[in-house]
Amino acid sequence: MFIVSHPIIAPSILAADFGHLYRQVQDVVDAGADWIHLDVMDAHFVPNLTFGPPIIKAIRGATDRLFDTHLMIENPDRWVDAYRQAGSDSITIHAEATRHLHRSVQVIRDSGARVGVSLNPHTPLNVLEYVLDELDLVLLMTVNPGFGGQSFIKSVVPKITALKSMIDARGLSVDIQVDGGIKPTTIGAAARAGANVFVAGSAIFGTSNYAKAITELRAGAQLDASARTTV
Ligand code: DX5
Ligand code: ZN
Repeated sequence: MFIVSHPIIAPSILAADFGHLYRQVQDVVDAGADWIHLDVMDAHFVPNLTFGPPIIKAIRGATDRLFDTHLMIENPDRWVDAYRQAGSDSITIHAEATRHLHRSVQVIRDSGARVGVSLNPHTPLNVLEYVLDELDLVLLMTVNPGFGGQSFIKSVVPKITALKSMIDARGLSVDIQVDGGIKPTTIGAAARAGANVFVAGSAIFGTSNYAKAITELRAGAQLDASARTTV
């Protein structure tokens, strides 16, 4: 029995070679990437700084795969249109980074992008209760945001299960994305709990064979329940 029929693998370019970013995006798409995950950090919401709309615009021509922009920035509303115009197909904001989450969700919806909301590992699911119906995607962070290469926080697994139940109970079709520490030995636990979109940075760009890395992740997400991995 397959747990996830169509796992979506979204390599995070945070772990790519920024000196050859355009080519790196092409390479990872050729290797089987479904989406491209773009980690935007502002050095305020998270203790790190990455890139903004000009870089996204510069690599937009490398592929027509979905550009999945993860905004780890404070007051994201004012930047939504700029990220949309740069080529983002999906925009995910953090519930912790906006004072008026419902308004922020509407701003993204009005831009024409898919709408995602992310929660840090400690943030309870109940902040989603009155916006869940408006969303295309919920991103449950499986590390504290800010850096690649951190270890998967396994206490998030029951949170994935609970979110899946919330979504199913309402008859919604909302993607459950996980991000942080996803590798062949951790992806199975997230998939079995209900996640269907998997971000991986170092587990792909940190290897010399992207196609092999993506194939191994895909296989890990499809493990049947009897072939349990440990996290
Ligand atoms: C962390 C970022 C992640 C990061 C994941 O704040 O949101 O997308 O790139 O990196 P890995 O897969 O190396 O944990
Ligand atoms: Zn991310």
